This record gives sequence, C-alpha cells and structure tokens, in this order.
Amino acid sequence: MKIRVFPTAELATVYVAALVESLITREPHPVLGLATGATPVLLYRQLVAFHRQGLSFAHVTTINLDEYVGLAPDHPQSYRRFMEEHLFRHVDIPPTQTHVPNGMAADLAAECARYDALLAAHPIDLQILGIGHNGHIGFNEPEGALKTRTHVVTLTAETLRANARYFPDPGAMPRQAITMGLESILQAKAIILMAFGADKAQIVQAALSGEVSTAVPASFLQMHPNVTFVLDAGACQLLTPPEHWGVSFPLLEQGQFT
Ligand code: PGA
Repeated sequence: MKIRVFPTAELATVYVAALVESLITREPHPVLGLATGATPVLLYRQLVAFHRQGLSFAHVTTINLDEYVGLAPDHPQSYRRFMEEHLFRHVDIPPTQTHVPNGMAADLAAECARYDALLAAHPIDLQILGIGHNGHIGFNEPEGALKTRTHVVTLTAETLRANARYFPDPGAMPRQAITMGLESILQAKAIILMAFGADKAQIVQAALSGEVSTAVPASFLQMHPNVTFVLDAGACQLLTPPEHWGVSFPLLEQGQFT
C-alpha cells in the first residue's frame, strides 16, 4: 500500500490525473472504474482539460461504482447525470462505453447480475475511489457482513445526512442504491483512493490502522496489492509519523509539506 500526501487537493488531483492520463495513453483498451461525490470533481475537471489539450477517450471504457435506486438517468441528483455533467459530455468517449448501474431497473436483481457480467467482461485497470465519513467505498456501508458482488443496499443514516446537501428536498432522497461489491472493487488491477479535508482524517486513520473490519469497509483495501491513498494535508493529519508506516511522504521529506 502506498500513501501519497500533497499540500492541497488541487496538487493531489494533478498527480492522480497524470496517472490516469498515463494509463489512457499506454493501454489500447483501458477500463476506468469511476466514482462520484465531491472528491473526484477536480479530477474530472483536470481530465477534461487534458482532453482539450489532445487526450482522447475514444478507446476508454468506464464503469461507475453506484447509482441511487429510483432516480432516472437525467435526474439532477442521479450519478449518471453527475458523470455526464462532470466528464462524459466534455470528452470524446462513446456513450456506449460508459456504464452506470440502472437505478430505474424494474428487476433490480437482474440489473445487479447484468452489472457483474459487465465487470467480468471488462476487468478494471484503475479504480478511482472516494471514502465516506463512515468508511464506505461505493455504497458499501459498514455492516456486520459485506457483500462481494453488485447488490442493492439500504443507505445508512450517516450517508443520508452526508448526501442530503445535494437534494433540494432531502425527504425525496432515495433510501436505497445499487453498488458494486467489495470483491468487485478489489479485483481492479490498481486502486487509487482520494481523501481530502480534515473532516476525512479520522476515517482515513481508521481505514489505514492495520485492522481490517466490516465496520470500516475501506479497511479492506489494505489487502489489495496495488492501492494508493492520495491525501491532502487535512486528510493525513491523524496518521502516525511516516517512519512508523514505512511509506514515503515525498513532499514531507522535501520540506514542502505545510
Ligand atoms: P465525497 O463522498 O467525495 O462527497 O466526500 C465520498 C464518498 O461518499 O464516497
């Protein structure tokens, strides 16, 4: 596991965007696992900027982590709409190569099975993740047991509270979502989890504490052979000093970390 710390979310994002660009440039058919939420917004802005400078997405396939149950693709708070507004409509990716679970499916079990078949057919090269304040990744919420494959989840009160800010009428917010499961996420060849802000410091510390627990779904990432936590100054502030972790903090070592 690697930890990369940058003074600001903006600098951290440039680092991640460069890694994505390198993958897209290198691979003939790259598959990106994508996330929604506030954290990756800057990343998508940077990727759109790269596209305007010539980076093509025509050969890229994207697979998103999750979607609310009951929201149509064009609903302002749906994750399909989020992806269209922040990335898809600004780059040259063919719509047929972008995948988000269908929250309107009449048969949700069949939709989950369809998504699993899609994941099997398109192994993810690089999975981008945020982290919820309760440690969720995708919508894999803390529970006594975690599901491995795509499934319907009932959102926790904490997630409902955190995401209510996006809904003009929080009462109209869906209580359920479709999400990729933990094993599907862990099958990505490489994973980058981005966390920015002091309000994420506590959960980042819990995810990296060394204990793997279903109470903190992101802690399972410790078991992946190629995962990088990309943090800003706020999100890393509760981590034990670097020598204890055996990881490199390049900016800290160079005295550039404030
Ligand atoms: P955020 O959400 O990026 O809006 O903080 C992260 C998450 O819930 O996974």
